[in-house]
Amino acid sequence: MSEANGKKATLKLNGKEIELPIYSGTLGPDVIDVKDVLASGHFTFDPGFMATASCESKITYIDGNAGILLHRGYPIDQLATKTDYLETCYLLLNGELPTAEQKKEFDSQVRNHTMVHDQVSRFFNGFRRDAHPMAIMVGVVGALSAFYHNNLDLDDVNHREITAIRLIAKVPTLAAWSYKYTVGQPFIYPRNDLDYAENFLHMMFATPADRDYKVNPILAKAMDRIFTLHADHEQNASTSTVRLAGSTGANPYACISAGIAALWGPAHGGANEAVLKMLDEIGSVENVAPFMEKVKTKEVKLMGFGHRVYKNFDPRAKVMKETCDEVLGALGINDPQLELAMELERIALSDEYFIKRNLYPNVDFYSGIILKAIGIPTSMFTVIFALARTIGWITHWLEMQSTPHKIGRPRQLYTGEKQRNIDR
Ligand code: ACO
Repeated sequence: MSEANGKKATLKLNGKEIELPIYSGTLGPDVIDVKDVLASGHFTFDPGFMATASCESKITYIDGNAGILLHRGYPIDQLATKTDYLETCYLLLNGELPTAEQKKEFDSQVRNHTMVHDQVSRFFNGFRRDAHPMAIMVGVVGALSAFYHNNLDLDDVNHREITAIRLIAKVPTLAAWSYKYTVGQPFIYPRNDLDYAENFLHMMFATPADRDYKVNPILAKAMDRIFTLHADHEQNASTSTVRLAGSTGANPYACISAGIAALWGPAHGGANEAVLKMLDEIGSVENVAPFMEKVKTKEVKLMGFGHRVYKNFDPRAKVMKETCDEVLGALGINDPQLELAMELERIALSDEYFIKRNLYPNVDFYSGIILKAIGIPTSMFTVIFALARTIGWITHWLEMQSTPHKIGRPRQLYTGEKQRNIDR
């Protein structure tokens, strides 16, 4: 735990003064420790946790006003352009980028765990064919807990670390299979001669009939970058969910499944799917202006815009936009939806309504367009986000498990009935 920095906040309450210690991190606002408020018979109130730091962490730093995102101190644009996804995973887990030797060892460790127990493949048959792949993911990733439970010792650092490796390695297999199942194609097993992104795309798109299927390297590179840009994002809703579930000592695979559930919502990871649906609904450029009027009257939300923390720009969106241009250029795609998206972006960035509310495109605005160009169906967009974010979730889970922590248990402002008696 950080030491108090000597500064104190004073809270005046019913004529008494309560001194509250203040802590400084390495970056970002100081935090006021409000624990002592409890002794006065009060709770603090912060719905949506707008001003609450829920934990101490060394993994990721965000400055929403300046549009800064750092993993272990490194800016996201450098990580996205100078490392591959598994190097970023290594960095998140270990605090430092790997040497060439460490990278080789880490890559091969992940490759060794890409298979899932064959019994897992049978769970898929329990789902309807038209099930949303995120629903399947919540089920099958949670089901991994049944395979790694009895012998899992959360106090053993080796057990915790192998859990992280297993998750990074197996989630792409389950993600690709959640797609294959819904289109009625046979599961394609992982290939350990391929790199991480290639292996995922191979499991998604290869079929037994097309033995020579080769992953396009431009698409593999774009996929890898999408993974890197989604790897972690501090204490967002799904990560906080994983921490909260993990704080009870629950099985980590079940905790990750809880994170997948939280990510699914359109206000969080489900936004990338919602962006494409919105573009479909708008249809063509001439419908953009009337659609924007509906946004202003709050009939609809502009999906892929706005962020709880970024109030200037989303640094991931910047790299994603560049990748989007690269991929569409390299593939020679001239997508009318892209033109539509650019018109939305242009209006939103110049319109007083959006400027006043600091509404900028977020990472999901562009990722949907690239994913579409890669050939990923819309229903898989959030699954890909979940795949990429698994490293962030498990890194936060590891950080929490390796430091003293309390069960997460917020309180409430109760506004229901007072005690009353059943009168009969
Ligand atoms: N479209 C139109 N108006 C918006 C949008 C939007 N996307 N987002 C916020 N606003 C407006 C609100 O109506 C509100 O206006 P008001 O002041 O007139 O009432 C104002 O901007 C502030 O909005 P809040 O809801 O208070 O902002 P909050 O920080 O709580 O919400 C959120 C952030 C949930 C991301 C929101 O911007 C949103 O729903 N965006 C669309 C969904 C989306 O793209 N989510 C992805 C987030 S990134 C990620 O998870 C990877």
